[in-house]
Amino acid sequence: MKMIIAANWKMHKTAAEAASFCLDIRQREEQFKGIEVLICPPFTALSAAASELKGSKVKLGAQNMHWEPKGAQTGEISAGMLKEFGVEYVILGHSERRHLMAEDSSRIRPKVEAAFQNKLKPILCVGETEDQREKGITEQVLEEQLSGVLKELEVDRPEDLVVAYEPVWAIGTGKAASADDAERAAQYIKKCLAELLTAGGAEKVRIQYGGSVKAENINEFVSSPAVHGALVGGASLEVDSFSSLVEAAGKAVSN
Ligand code: 13P
Repeated sequence: MKMIIAANWKMHKTAAEAASFCLDIRQREEQFKGIEVLICPPFTALSAAASELKGSKVKLGAQNMHWEPKGAQTGEISAGMLKEFGVEYVILGHSERRHLMAEDSSRIRPKVEAAFQNKLKPILCVGETEDQREKGITEQVLEEQLSGVLKELEVDRPEDLVVAYEPVWAIGTGKAASADDAERAAQYIKKCLAELLTAGGAEKVRIQYGGSVKAENINEFVSSPAVHGALVGGASLEVDSFSSLVEAAGKAVSN
């Protein structure tokens, strides 16, 4: 299964800054061996990033979308609008949206459904807060987040689904989960997926780890058997740190 490393820029970079990053990253892409790489800029930078990435093997993702194709949804963006720029992946249910925008499964589920219907590949984020971890309910939280979105959902192409395990306490804190924690969570996610998807589907889903991933620790995560890549925030904002991270992952995978 090919490793997938995604840059989640969150609310960073103007269109001009995104174009400059993409121009630079194209000079390095030959080094990205054996890894699927994608960049998820803010909506306003998608067009500029798409122009610079034309013909590149670096792919484009979005950070959110609405489930309706069009309509009276002020401030929202539809799958069709994303596809116009060649967007292939869409991050859905990121913890910042769950916590800052009060998104829950009732909103994330129709987004995932609409992504599949529009042939966009969803990166569904799940993960526990520090408080939930201390209470020992991590597995319960993961199970609820997964089943709230995927239960009885028709997933024809599980190979297009990515689940990102992002413990909230590890995001932007410099305090990454241990490789053991990430592996244990990924194994549990696989177990839940085996119950939620049709037979054999769970084996085709890639599971990323996210939360304070950088060039110095990526190899621990990609060396874990159930982890198939990373969702990267802070370390994806500079071309040097992001390309070093992808190159380190490539080396770890080829060993
Ligand atoms: P950091 O890599 O900055 O911890 O962010 C992780 C994240 O939220 C990626 O979606």
